[in-house]
Amino acid sequence: MLTLGIESSCDETGVALYDSEHGLLADVLYSQVALHSEYGGVVPELASRDHLRKTLPLIQQCMADAELPLSSIDSIAVTEGPGLIGALLVGSSIAHGLAHALKIPVIGVHHMEGHLLAPMLEENPPEFPFITLLVSGGHTMLVEARAVGEYHLLGETLDDAAGEAFDKTAKLLGLGYPGGPALAKLATQGKSDRYPFPRPMTNRPGLDFSFSGLKTHTRTLWQQLETDNPEENALIKADIAAGFEHAVVQTLLIKCRRALQHTSCRRLVIAGGVGANQSLRSTLLAEAKKHDWEIYYPRPAFCTDNGAMIAYVGNLRQLAGQLENTGIRGRPRWPIDELCPPGQQDMQ
Ligand code: KG4
Ligand code: ZN
Repeated sequence: MLTLGIESSCDETGVALYDSEHGLLADVLYSQVALHSEYGGVVPELASRDHLRKTLPLIQQCMADAELPLSSIDSIAVTEGPGLIGALLVGSSIAHGLAHALKIPVIGVHHMEGHLLAPMLEENPPEFPFITLLVSGGHTMLVEARAVGEYHLLGETLDDAAGEAFDKTAKLLGLGYPGGPALAKLATQGKSDRYPFPRPMTNRPGLDFSFSGLKTHTRTLWQQLETDNPEENALIKADIAAGFEHAVVQTLLIKCRRALQHTSCRRLVIAGGVGANQSLRSTLLAEAKKHDWEIYYPRPAFCTDNGAMIAYVGNLRQLAGQLENTGIRGRPRWPIDELCPPGQQDMQ
């Protein structure tokens, strides 16, 4: 069964084709980074308009890459939430319009389930149950995944998401948008132990996170340390970036370790945009070796937003008996533990 996936929840338009027998056949992505960079963050109305411009050409490109006609598609999977409402509605409208013309069903997909199951697109995918650290621009959570659609939230951020903290801290340091990758790059030139950073919420029990204090700590440090010498400032910024990144990575590590201990699970999956961070990947990999955990993470392009994960989840859910969804809609807020296994219709 062939599923066309459409992702348009934020600032990336992703389109992909996933076949239940042959796997991923095509995967194309258009990033709106250049569009939003002059505003220092995502402008929702501009995002919607750009998804509207780009989705149909990307669908055409995807079909051309796979050398297949539109008539070969059996279903369309589209991100239904969470995300920016206008951006979600563009994807949903296009999906329903095309599905109506082709007389095929539409499966509404939870964006975070896409991230959570993205490692399944790789060779040697994890088996259930596993613990997922989901770290993106909008979410930071630890989820116990027991089966498809059976997700138990173990902990989440009480304020900023990890990616949001990266982005806001990068902005404070004048690194532009999107800040995460730029801050990570700068951190490779700095010394992580030059300035002390806290490890928020690690010295009390529980699996929740809080990252807004790290951003404030950075602002205060920078205000104290900034000099009139641009070269010296560049060195200070690199050391701050390294200290900040190290603090985030160590905090995530401590909570992952705790989640695995609490659940007696030995499988850890890293997903979401911050999962592309090399320091996080190598730190968790080393920890996994030490404790003999199995560790899984998708390639960096499948950590950040993409159409492949949406096509995969839609295909999987339809094969498992999920019915067509009710119509054009977007759910800006949609807690992941409200999801049901495929076939058990979500009545929200
Ligand atoms: O999953 P994603 O593409 O979109 C959301 O669903 O939010 O995640 C985007 C987030 C942004 O905050 C971005 O700065 C962050 O992931 N990010 C990174 C890296 N690559 C992307 N953060 C740290 N290091 C990276 N290498
Ligand atoms: Zn995402």
